[in-house]
Amino acid sequence: MVTKEENQSLTQVGPGTPGGELLRRYWHPVAAAAELTGEKPIKAVRLLGERLVVYRDTSGAYGLVAEQCSHRRASLAYGRVDDEGIRCPYHGWKYDAAGKCLETPAEPPGSTLKESIRQPAYPVERLGGLLFGYLGPRPAPALPRWDVLAWEHGERWVQRHSVIQCNWLQCMENSVDPSHLYWLHGVTAHLANAMDHYEERHDFTIFDHGIMKRRTSADGEGERVDQHPLLFPNILRHVLKSRDSGKLVHNLQIRVPLDDTHTQVFMVLFAPGQGARTPPDADTPFEFVTMRDAEGAYRLDLVLAQDVMAWETQGPVADRSTEHLGAADKGVHIFRKLVAEQIEIVRQGGVPLGVSADGGEGGIIELEVINQRIGLARPQTELVAQA
Ligand code: FES
Ligand SMILES: [Fe+2]
Repeated sequence: MVTKEENQSLTQVGPGTPGGELLRRYWHPVAAAAELTGEKPIKAVRLLGERLVVYRDTSGAYGLVAEQCSHRRASLAYGRVDDEGIRCPYHGWKYDAAGKCLETPAEPPGSTLKESIRQPAYPVERLGGLLFGYLGPRPAPALPRWDVLAWEHGERWVQRHSVIQCNWLQCMENSVDPSHLYWLHGVTAHLANAMDHYEERHDFTIFDHGIMKRRTSADGEGERVDQHPLLFPNILRHVLKSRDSGKLVHNLQIRVPLDDTHTQVFMVLFAPGQGARTPPDADTPFEFVTMRDAEGAYRLDLVLAQDVMAWETQGPVADRSTEHLGAADKGVHIFRKLVAEQIEIVRQGGVPLGVSADGGEGGIIELEVINQRIGLARPQTELVAQA
């Protein structure tokens, strides 16, 4: 049972809220790198209830600053970039990526006004085709180099999905909710038939980076194990087999809280392949995927749109005080408890799950993903070693 107060604490994302302070300990994608071009080097974005602009200056460096200008609050989204930073479109004040005010052109010569100005500015890093921002206390922790972002031995591409009209926690609870697979997605394809014959057991184990989910199923041919992690707090790591090519496609589904009632999914996909090579800082193809058709109806032929339908219809922020959880909701319960515990750790000044304070530079975090249903029985690290 979750009280209204606990529900608020779990779901609020703004600055100064308990949940918002937890989420500020992690890096979150704000855009695909390919969304910033020479013609359109500035993009207005939202993250954790804050309005920001991300930009690429003419020297190729990235910046992430508050959207509203410190002078009189016009939007920097309509500004201009040069090789030092971003200039406001209204009266031309210019800022660098650290938020330092470089010029106040309308002020008299010798004015020292700019020395006292600080535009809020945040660290931004590019990895695996995405631009990640960090809004928390400094120094920023290392940006985790998840395998799907950092592997080189194949092809990578990224997607940004249409904005989901609900709180981020609903999306994440879905990742520890195995009973929805049959009812929400089972109507499509082979999954329904397959699952009729299965007896399944689900285990959720807390590990260094989140919750390892393990599904053991039995049919006439014996026992099969699938295992993949939820990377705390807001990432699902998966592997699928492409229906078209038969290739394995690893993916990272990152559910970014834009504000209390909007969530943005970024997906990074990686197909290991002979010959192909994609460094983590390479230009990465980008596509926008919408979960609705031209009339605004859910595209229910897409598995992801089925999920989005379920999340959005729970309400902008699901009222967990009026739910009735059952035994099959064990994973949901474990996840909420973990979020509440990590909020408390941050409140007491500690370092929450998965945050690495030191650099960890150069490394890759490889995750053991097993999917016996599609013939992927070995830990992923062995496959990489062979590639
Ligand atoms: S509002 Fe930005 S320079 Fe005046
Ligand atoms: Fe789902």
